[in-house]
Amino acid sequence: MKKNVDLQPYNSFGFNATAKYFVEINNVDDLLQLINTPEFKAEKHLILSGGNNILFTNDCFDGIVILMNNKGIEIVHEDEGDVVVRAQAGEDWPEFVKQMVTKGFYGVENLAHIPGKVGAAPVQNIGAYGMELKDSFFQCHALNLATGKTRIFTNEACDFGYRESVFKHELKGQYIITSVDFLLHKQSELKLEYGNIKAYLEQNGIAEPTLQQLHDAICAIREAKLPDVKQIGSAGSFFKNPVISAEQFDALQKQYPDIPHYPDAEGMVKVPAGWLIEQAGWKGWRDDYVGVYEKQALVLVHYGGGKGEDIVSLSQRIQKSVEEKFGIQISPEVNFV
Ligand code: EPU
Repeated sequence: MKKNVDLQPYNSFGFNATAKYFVEINNVDDLLQLINTPEFKAEKHLILSGGNNILFTNDCFDGIVILMNNKGIEIVHEDEGDVVVRAQAGEDWPEFVKQMVTKGFYGVENLAHIPGKVGAAPVQNIGAYGMELKDSFFQCHALNLATGKTRIFTNEACDFGYRESVFKHELKGQYIITSVDFLLHKQSELKLEYGNIKAYLEQNGIAEPTLQQLHDAICAIREAKLPDVKQIGSAGSFFKNPVISAEQFDALQKQYPDIPHYPDAEGMVKVPAGWLIEQAGWKGWRDDYVGVYEKQALVLVHYGGGKGEDIVSLSQRIQKSVEEKFGIQISPEVNFV
């Protein structure tokens, strides 16, 4: 266990914050040892994976930061049509997706190029281009930090929702996901319906994409729209897309006939927060330290030298102005610490 560790390299916003204690976990035994230490019993803790969805709002995390770094990918079941692949929590997510695509396994290809690690993917139920992690999630192993016992969580037990799971709510901070099993397929239809996937493929002369071509197209689309966190600090989408009632949507559509929208459960309508923020005039706004990404208004960025509080205050101003203009409340998908 190290003391006073700078967390700047461990959060994709690139903010400075010091961890009172910092420990890197390479296997389940490391975790079992950790939870029996006096420090663990006395201090609060923060589970850190890729640090791609976290905003440090203070200069110091007054507790133990646990960095998951256990590795390994293996096939645990295989039959004619399907395969169950187990990935350890510390595996890099986009590398995992790349490997599955290379092997010809269908089920995670639209989630290509999302920065992060495997263990955090179910917590957030990551999603993109018409696919969510829950679609291929079979089960995960997670360690109870109070008892040291491992529990298997089925898909149902995770209570997945839009960027939500039981690990963000009822069980927050209680379990560490140590590995995830994915149910993937040797044959499947590709999901090409979302946004500009088809247009991109057409432009590149691809009529019937292979699994690999779809993966590569999604990587290219993301690269064109989202900042490279190695260059500019960000946490991907900062807000969730709000879901509003059909009545509220109809009224808005009368005023803004071009408003993009997607049907959601129970007759509700999902509206892209990026569009609302752009219409409210924020796209490309910046000060010396932070701003709203010029190619995707849902992404707040840190240009360097700023503090987490700068993003908090920018996000509050954006929320206020979206609410004033549209009467819609948008809420962060990023976790504040
Ligand atoms: N839009 C604008 N202006 C903008 C941004 C978007 O008008 O500045 C409009 C677009 O024209 C489009 C609609 O909003 O009509 C949706 O935009 P986009 O396809 O870029 O997706 P998004 O809803 O902004 C979501 C996810 C992303 C994911 C993409 C692609 C959330 C919170 N975000 O963004 O996930 O990559 O769809 O599937 O659901 C993330 O969670 O960190 C993330 C990047």
